[in-house]
Amino acid sequence: MTSPSAGSERVDNAVTTPEASAQQQTGGPIRDARLPIPSQSAVDVKHYYEEQTLAYIEGFGDVFQGSRPASTTDLLDYILKAADINDGMRVLDAGCGVCGPAIWFAQHRNVRIESLTISPVQVRGARARVATQGLENRITVREGDFHHLTDIYQQDSFDRVLFLETICHASDYRQVLEQAMAVLKPGGFLYIKDFYCQDYRSKPEMIETQLEDLKALNRVYHLSLPDLASTVDLICELGFRFKYLREPDYLAVFEPWMRFEQIAGLAWNPRLSHHDLIACMELFCQRPLDHSSPV
Ligand SMILES: C[S@@+](CC[C@H](N)C(=O)[O-])C[C@H]1O[C@@H](n2cnc3c(N)ncnc32)[C@H](O)[C@@H]1O
Repeated sequence: MTSPSAGSERVDNAVTTPEASAQQQTGGPIRDARLPIPSQSAVDVKHYYEEQTLAYIEGFGDVFQGSRPASTTDLLDYILKAADINDGMRVLDAGCGVCGPAIWFAQHRNVRIESLTISPVQVRGARARVATQGLENRITVREGDFHHLTDIYQQDSFDRVLFLETICHASDYRQVLEQAMAVLKPGGFLYIKDFYCQDYRSKPEMIETQLEDLKALNRVYHLSLPDLASTVDLICELGFRFKYLREPDYLAVFEPWMRFEQIAGLAWNPRLSHHDLIACMELFCQRPLDHSSPV
């Protein structure tokens, strides 16, 4: 059985020990963010969103984020400020859904946004919403995979790269973050808001239940959530500089998420509360001015 303490050993040891890689390939529920998971496929994620996007819209509205305050505009205002998005910037929204966030950002700041999603259904929905708001000249929506950003976008070209509850689907965090680093301008910032497994090294009696719940969560949502420690290690290894790492500063509500699960018919019956299982964190990190392109 995998355990968070096994996770900490991986942090100290060589990155690709045979055990670590075998464990990642069998989809052990506590993921080390530094290692790829070949079994986690972008094609599966694409199919998942092709099937579930309507249920997401019904459950969540146009912003598909599980961690949120009661008001969606409060959430978007919070992210705008947290990611320090300002007039004149060029922003990449990596995993854009139907552009609920991008439209709001473009309405509140004079920015240009490139929106990327793996799902063609979302591309159509996003383009229709962008057109309705008359924002086609400032928001461009494309279908593509954020593991291959440099195939789609120019290097050194974004002031901000945002992952708003999206990188949790990555099969290879290292590749995605290297690509994000490459398309950021030197001095630009990466903003990630996502979930990480709670760390129960100090409460081993919780681990077995947590692992069962995580297995179900990962399966149902086509995720493989990592622990925070290995994610921080990876980001530092790649040369990003942390500006902050924190829990979002709002009172989270879970009704939209519960509504979505009911509409989508996704039952995974966790024994732990969401908060005891996973934690939402924000990571805001800079590509140093003197950092040469990693790809
Ligand atoms: C939970 S939704 C969040 C959507 C959006 N950020 C929002 O706040 O409404 C996850 C998004 O990540 C996108 N996604 C997942 N894997 C992706 C990949 N490999 N490349 C591009 N987008 C991806 C999905 O298509 C979906 O739009």
